Amino acid sequence: MRIILLGMGVVGGSFLELLELEGADLYRKYGLHPVVIAAADSRSVVYNPRGLDLRNILMYKRTHGSLQGHPNEVEGLDPVRDLDAEVVVDVTPSDFRTGEPGLSHLRAALQTGKHVVTANKGPLAVEMPALIEMFQHKGLKLLFSGTVGGGTPFLRFVGKCLSGERITSIRGVVNGTTNYILNRMEDGVSFSDALKEAQEKGYAEADPSNDVDGWDSAAKLVILSNWAMDLGVTLRDVSVRGIRDVRITEEMLSRGRTVRLIATADESGLRVRPEEIDRKDPLVVPGALNAVSFTAEISGRHTLTGKGAGGRETAAALLRDLVELKMHMGGSEPC
Ligand code: HSE
Repeated sequence: MRIILLGMGVVGGSFLELLELEGADLYRKYGLHPVVIAAADSRSVVYNPRGLDLRNILMYKRTHGSLQGHPNEVEGLDPVRDLDAEVVVDVTPSDFRTGEPGLSHLRAALQTGKHVVTANKGPLAVEMPALIEMFQHKGLKLLFSGTVGGGTPFLRFVGKCLSGERITSIRGVVNGTTNYILNRMEDGVSFSDALKEAQEKGYAEADPSNDVDGWDSAAKLVILSNWAMDLGVTLRDVSVRGIRDVRITEEMLSRGRTVRLIATADESGLRVRPEEIDRKDPLVVPGALNAVSFTAEISGRHTLTGKGAGGRETAAALLRDLVELKMHMGGSEPC
């Protein structure tokens, strides 16, 4: 399976490391032979039609800070439009206003007949219903496990394990950065110090106001509710409030209550806001964890908890999607 990788940040690097590490197993278990023919960062594209040397690319990026000047660098190339490949893996940063550059990547993939595996939330936040329709219309796969929950398979859980049931509501903590900050504020750490810590740990978005002002949670809520409840919504349909004004007091904690940034989709609509909540509620999870409760019409509330952010975790979700794509493309035949 020939892959074009767009984005060489923490997630892109982890993805290449995982391919190196799991390559033999992926082939043995699933007949999947991923060959990364091109990789792009914000400045350069490197290309080898027989497959790039992943270890070399990773080392080069680490040492030089970019792919510029690499022996496989090709100038003036638009990788998605100009190259032949089965799949585009997009791990470029999420922009929740324009959806770019992810939106252009998806359009180019559609026009050139390529499947997409993406961890970029921007395009889905602004145009998910239309994108799903266009990919379906073209018979192409658009897979996005890594957009919600990092490595925790929230989307797959509700899509596969609860299939056949109507999901009546979703309530979740879907942003690791703000959850980390609120947990640290319970320990008496200030908002700004806790945010700095979250950035150092690599949880925050390139622009962390997307985390603290609730936009990252809102984008994930859009993706979850379109997927699980078929709502046909975009970011414009979500009422959003972040955590900048939140205070967690000793008095609140002594009453067994705390505050979490909760994303909700129910009969009243879609909203993200800080809510006072019982500390024993399953949505009250430590550190940068995520937790999502799906309420199914018959079987009731199901809550899944797991790591919601991090390069390796998100890269694991990308691998899962590649395996799913392989199954779709031809069972366990080598590809
Ligand atoms: N900034 C995001 C978070 C990363 O903190 O959850 C994962 O999408």
